[in-house]
Amino acid sequence: MSRLRIRNHGRIHAELQVQGSKNSSLPCLAAALLHPGITVLDGVPMIEDVFAAIEILRALGARVSVEGSRVIICAHDVSGTEIPACFMRKMRSSVIFLGALLSRMGEAQSVYPGGCALGSRPIDFHLEGFRRLGCEVVLSEEKIDVRSRGMSGALIRLPFSSVGATENLLLAAAGAQGMTVIENAAREPEIVELSRLLVRMGFDIRGAGTSCIAIRGKADTKDVCFSMSGDRIVAGTWLLCCMNAGGRICLDRVPVQWMYSTLEVFRQMGAVIQTEGRRVECRAPEKIRPVACLKTAPYPGFPTDMQSQLLPVLCRAEGDSCIRETVFASRFRVAAQLVRMGADITVSADQTFARIRGGSRLHGAEVSAPDLRGGAALVIAAMNAEGDTVIDDFYHIERGYERITDTIRILGGEACWIV
Ligand code: EPZ
Repeated sequence: MSRLRIRNHGRIHAELQVQGSKNSSLPCLAAALLHPGITVLDGVPMIEDVFAAIEILRALGARVSVEGSRVIICAHDVSGTEIPACFMRKMRSSVIFLGALLSRMGEAQSVYPGGCALGSRPIDFHLEGFRRLGCEVVLSEEKIDVRSRGMSGALIRLPFSSVGATENLLLAAAGAQGMTVIENAAREPEIVELSRLLVRMGFDIRGAGTSCIAIRGKADTKDVCFSMSGDRIVAGTWLLCCMNAGGRICLDRVPVQWMYSTLEVFRQMGAVIQTEGRRVECRAPEKIRPVACLKTAPYPGFPTDMQSQLLPVLCRAEGDSCIRETVFASRFRVAAQLVRMGADITVSADQTFARIRGGSRLHGAEVSAPDLRGGAALVIAAMNAEGDTVIDDFYHIERGYERITDTIRILGGEACWIV
């Protein structure tokens, strides 16, 4: 069942605790393979992508139990080296297990990763980095096979500060003899979180959060209990939902220190945002100011994962806005769905920027989620649309948003599954 009807009747007045970070939890679950003992992760979001990662761990021989938002992994008996195709095709971030398997087992096999269709999403940076560490990479029509007779530390320069490649190469380098330096590394908070876990496990890592990271491989690892931070993209999603529908929202467990560029844009749009520790209070503006030309960028720039969710809010702005997408080749697919709800959005032929005409109130429609964050944008639109909205392919959204129908109801909306 994957069609959800949403209806909302007015302004939001709610308090929410933000779920754990999806994009930190996934590499940290893979990192558990590096220790032949117990790794406990607290505050993990119970979402489809996490369930898939847990099944991959089990398929490789780890014992995994879940207690609420605590995931307990015993990786003592890991013996597998092949990531099951069904999970690789379903979720792109499964690719992160290649690096962890290389560290632990010295080899890894899988099919090519699937995931959101945000344009071509090759993994050439990952594979080239494995070669730099001394691995043999064999690619056939369907399969990736990476093997090493003992990896050695290397200097790896990434052509682009890829988040996944940085994470994958950190995990692989943890199993290499000697020092590895990754230049032009991604600076995202999720890299910092993964590095914190690896250091707690016993690895020597310097520079996480900067564009140059050094890791000394082959450590004696130990049991760890580690708490995940709140999800900065989910927090931003609910702030935008309040800005769009009006009212006031209070969020707890927000990683404010990693959201400055996001909160700055929301303030420029007129939101009154106050923060105290991990708590954020947002009062929606009566009038939403447009953004002249906003560019997405790798951290610490405005996150590409917040771009889709901005679109419905800017439809209500007092003027026209322009967003330029610089990270993915095609990440405006939800615009066509918002146009079905009455939005006036024009996407450039080369898919690099979108012009959003302001001043329109969206109406309910039958739409379908094109991907995870595009689906979140449709929920935001539906929470301020006139009439009912039915979102098909809702499973995309459940990959990243925990108990989202409960959240919609807490925000004052009606959410009902329809067949
Ligand atoms: C991670 O994806 C996130 N996913 C994405 O979040 C996020 O949008 C992205 O980083 C950028 O911040 C997870 O963490 C699970 P990239 P990833 O490698 O690692 C190109 C969400 O909504 N590239 O930084 O796949 C690539 O095509 C998801 O939660 C290569 O060309 O992103 C893209 O254009 C969506 N070759 C750009 O780099 C490579 O080998 C950035 O990709 C790798 C990447």
